Parts: sequence; C-alpha cells; structure tokens
Amino acid sequence: MLGAIHFGVLAACVVLFVPMAMAGWHLSRHKILFFSGALFISLAVCVHLTPYFPSVSDIVASVSSVVVYDHRSSCINLVNEITWDVKPKPAEPAGKNGSKLDYFEKNWDWVKLRKVMDCEFQKLGKSDASDLLNGSWVVVAGDSQARFVALSLLNLVLDSGSEAMESAKADLFKRHSDYNILVKEIGMKLDFVWAPYETNLTDLVIVYKKERKYPDVLMLGTGLWHMLHVNDASDYGDQLKKLRSNVESLGPFSPEQDGSVSVRSPHLFWIGMPVEVLLPTELFNQMWFVSLNTVWHAYDRSLGESKILRQTGGPLILLDIQSFTWNCGPQCTLDGMHYDGAVYDAAVHVMLNALLVESHQRL
Ligand SMILES: *[C@@H]1O[C@H](CO)[C@@H](O)[C@H](O)[C@H]1NC(C)=O
Ligand SMILES: *[C@@H]1O[C@H](CO)[C@@H](O)[C@H](O)[C@H]1NC(C)=O
Ligand SMILES: *[C@@H]1O[C@H](CO)[C@@H](O)[C@H](O)[C@H]1NC(C)=O
Repeated sequence: MLGAIHFGVLAACVVLFVPMAMAGWHLSRHKILFFSGALFISLAVCVHLTPYFPSVSDIVASVSSVVVYDHRSSCINLVNEITWDVKPKPAEPAGKNGSKLDYFEKNWDWVKLRKVMDCEFQKLGKSDASDLLNGSWVVVAGDSQARFVALSLLNLVLDSGSEAMESAKADLFKRHSDYNILVKEIGMKLDFVWAPYETNLTDLVIVYKKERKYPDVLMLGTGLWHMLHVNDASDYGDQLKKLRSNVESLGPFSPEQDGSVSVRSPHLFWIGMPVEVLLPTELFNQMWFVSLNTVWHAYDRSLGESKILRQTGGPLILLDIQSFTWNCGPQCTLDGMHYDGAVYDAAVHVMLNALLVESHQRL
C-alpha cells in the first residue's frame, strides 16, 4: 500500500517537474504540454500493466526461496558426511569385562569441508534434542539395527545411566517384541515396532493410513532378515517399491478430523544396512563371508533401484549406517553386524540435524 502511494507521488513529481525542467531548456509551451502528456500516458500505462508482471519483490522472494530450497536439499544431501577417528584408549578401561569395544576411543564429526560446514550441523545435547522433539510422536520400526537406533535416541533424551534409562533398555531389548514409552518431561512418545521384514513395514504404514494418525518422525529400516532368510535381492527390491508407494501416499495431510488445521507430513527416514566386516575370528568362514558380501551389494543395488530414498527421488532420508559402520571399522563391532553405540548415536544426530534443516530451524 505504502509502495503504491510512494509510486503515485513519484509519478506526479515526474509529470510535473520533468516538463518544467525542460522549460528551462527553452522548449515551447506546446512542446512542454506534449512531453507532459506523453509522460503521463506512459506512466499510466506502466501503472496499469504492473499487476500483470511479477513485481521485483516477488522475483526477489522466489530467488531467495530457491536459494533456501537449494540450501535445504544440499544440506540434506550432506548430512551423512561424517568422519571417524577410532584409536586405542591410552589406559585400560576400568571396571569393564574387557569387551573389545571398550578398548577403543571412537570420535566422529562432520567433515571439515566448506560446503558441509556451511550447513552448521551440530551434535545436539539433551536439552536441544528435548526442545526439538517436545510433544512429538516418534516411531522406529525395523530389525535389530532399528532397535539400537531407538536405544540411542532414548539415551539422548533420558539421562544415560539413570534408572529410567536402565529399565527402558531392559524392556527395549526383550527379544522380538515391540516397545513403547512416553517420556513425560517432554511429552515425547516413542514406539519401537519389531518389523524384521519389509512387508511388516508396509503393513504398519497401511495401518497409519487407515487410522489417519501419523507419527511426526518415522524411521524405518530392514534388510538383514530378508538377506539372511530369503536371500533374493530382486524380491527385496519389489518389497521396497511397495513400501515406497505406501509411504508416498502418507502426507501431507490436512485438516485433521479433530478440527486442528496443522498441515504437516511426517519426517521420514531410512535406517541403512550396516556393512558386515570380516572379523579375525571369522577368517575360517571366509567363503561364507565373500558370498554374503556379494549378496550385500546386490541388496544395496535393489535399495537404490527401488527409489525409496530421497537421493533417488523417493520419500525417505537415508541414515547412512553403511558409511558409519564402514568408517568406524572392525574395532566397532563384536559380531560383525551389530555395532558400537557410537554408530547409532551418529545416526540419531544425523536424523535430528536433518529435522532441523527440514524445518528451517537453527538452534
Ligand atoms: C563381568 O562378567 C561377569 C560374568 O560374565 C559378570 O558376573 C560381572 O558382573 C561382569 N562385570 C562387569 C563389571 O561388567
Ligand atoms: C514442552 O512444551 C511445553 C508446551 O508446549 C512446555 O510447557 C514445556 O516446557 C516444554 N518442555 C521442554 C522440556 O521443552
Ligand atoms: C512380518 O512379516 C512376516 C512375513 O510376511 C510374517 O510372517 C510375520 O508374522 C510378520 N511379523 C510381524 C511382527 O508382524
């Protein structure tokens, strides 16, 4: 509105003063009238045509939203770029039973590259994570890898070592079972759903769709069970495609039947498969390992071809357990499949940073 008034005043000044200035250049009255009229008409034409052209502010806004969009999508692409520093501990760990894992110090951070640093990723402390997840419903569904991710997340929002955490841990690790907890202080509901096969994940998503109740954060991850029990990479790919089409129809959605008008879609993640490393104790099993390794790559290809991941145009943001486990290395696993907590902690921090990027938040 103000802009229009300013423009009007400016136009009036131009119409009035430009011909007067010209009069100073000894133009005749007729010519001044002519210039006045011509200016008036062209300004009027401009004013009336303006609405049909995008205004400068619109152009600026669209450019900056492209920039923001670029920033978001490129930071999501970079969020898994972390490096590991694994080295023997200087002193023997005290009070432990000499698990190999206790003898190594594992540190990780985002790589120190300009483009990654520009995204300002950071490890979140308990209070920042609590703020971010306050009041939300988080679902982690999948196999044992997913269970470890759920454990890491709880470790962050409950005090690790606290009584609440110890009892949560005991319940969470009941074999092949579901687990639910409400973290009262922040009103966060966390469900772990035991879903070892991709069909189990698809069924779960279908239930959410039917009930029209969606978690705020949904982390899915399977693969190992299919690989070990079915061993058919192309069937795995087909199952993932089914899962993708069901997940894609999840959101965005609005308004809810209860009258609230929030337009939001769940934040969706895929918990990648770990790399299986060859442990010295398994050397005798090398043939088995080599064939498993080939199968692993076939499964990884099926995952890519299913286009379920964001990087291939799909709905799920990858938590790149593959790269974390590969870079953390053999010092980070006891059985070659399940890894040190540090790996799953990294996955949780990657997830939280992706949430921050997606919701344009800065801490
Ligand atoms: C060490 O292992 C033994 C038996 O495996 C167990 O009873 C004991 O509690 C463990 N100690 C610690 C400190 O974990
Ligand atoms: C969570 O949000 C509620 C209200 O939205 C607020 O009262 C509470 O202090 C928050 N808790 C934390 C830990 O941020
Ligand atoms: C998961 O799917 C498999 C195969 O479809 C089925 O046999 C099993 O009962 C399902 N498990 C759960 C926990 O739903």
